[in-house]
Amino acid sequence: MNSSPQASPSGSDRGAASDIAEHARPTTAESIISLRGVRKTYFRGKEPIHVLQDLDLEVPVGGYEALMGPSGSGKSTLLNLIAGLDRPSAGSLLVAGADLGAMSDSQLARWRANTIGFIFQAYNLMPVLTAVENVELPLLLTKLSASERKRRAQTALRIVGLEDRMHHYPRQLSGGQEQRVAIARAIVNDPQVLVADEPTGDLDRQSADEILTLLERMNRELHKTIIMVTHDPAAAERAHITRRLNKGQLI
Ligand SMILES: Nc1ncnc2c1ncn2[C@@H]1O[C@H](COP(=O)(O)OP(=O)(O)O)[C@@H](O)[C@H]1O
Ligand SMILES: [Mg+2]
Repeated sequence: MNSSPQASPSGSDRGAASDIAEHARPTTAESIISLRGVRKTYFRGKEPIHVLQDLDLEVPVGGYEALMGPSGSGKSTLLNLIAGLDRPSAGSLLVAGADLGAMSDSQLARWRANTIGFIFQAYNLMPVLTAVENVELPLLLTKLSASERKRRAQTALRIVGLEDRMHHYPRQLSGGQEQRVAIARAIVNDPQVLVADEPTGDLDRQSADEILTLLERMNRELHKTIIMVTHDPAAAERAHITRRLNKGQLI
């Protein structure tokens, strides 16, 4: 999102999408996500809970993968490890050219802010901020000027088709619209990887389908690699690959 603002010829949000796509960073490595022997063990008192066990995973650049599995099988745990929000008990994670285990917490935080976009089931928008202010939030950590931040937030909202709701508060939006604002927030930093944890879990079928179409566009047009946890078979069907987490391993 480094370009100057460009109105799309058709006036649709497609123009903004290709505006960003032109500036997507190409990655030469075949896998953008590479996990080797990853383990995660939690302790409940003294009792260990082996959530992930010697898990390997390779995700190609530009992949769009669905992750399914029973509740409590470790899907969110795996997503959080890939996103650098948590650290493994053992094993290595290479994500978007970075060896996550080799980075300090502050390096990891900076890497995360530049590389990962997060989409949650519950949208996680700030109720006291307007749509455009919510989308701008991740940019407050950068050195961008206020006007550039606003411009990028507007571009992101245009991409998700909500430029006209820019000054609405979350409570004035439908669930589907809130999730679109959350997607705009996730892409405003132009991250290489989007992680989505049950992004359609709270939505009716029609809104869910709109969100899935939007995610597909993020993948196809903006070349975002997407890992999506979902319980929804219709959602998984839209991804390129569905992986299942069972007893701490992927099948
Ligand atoms: N911070 C934590 N401390 C202790 N146990 C946890 C923690 N986070 C998750 N767990 C446990 O790890 C297992 C997997 O959780 P989670 O990754 O959230 O599963 P899923 O997303 O597939 O439902 C569950 O048994 C959960 O209780
Ligand atoms: Mg979960």
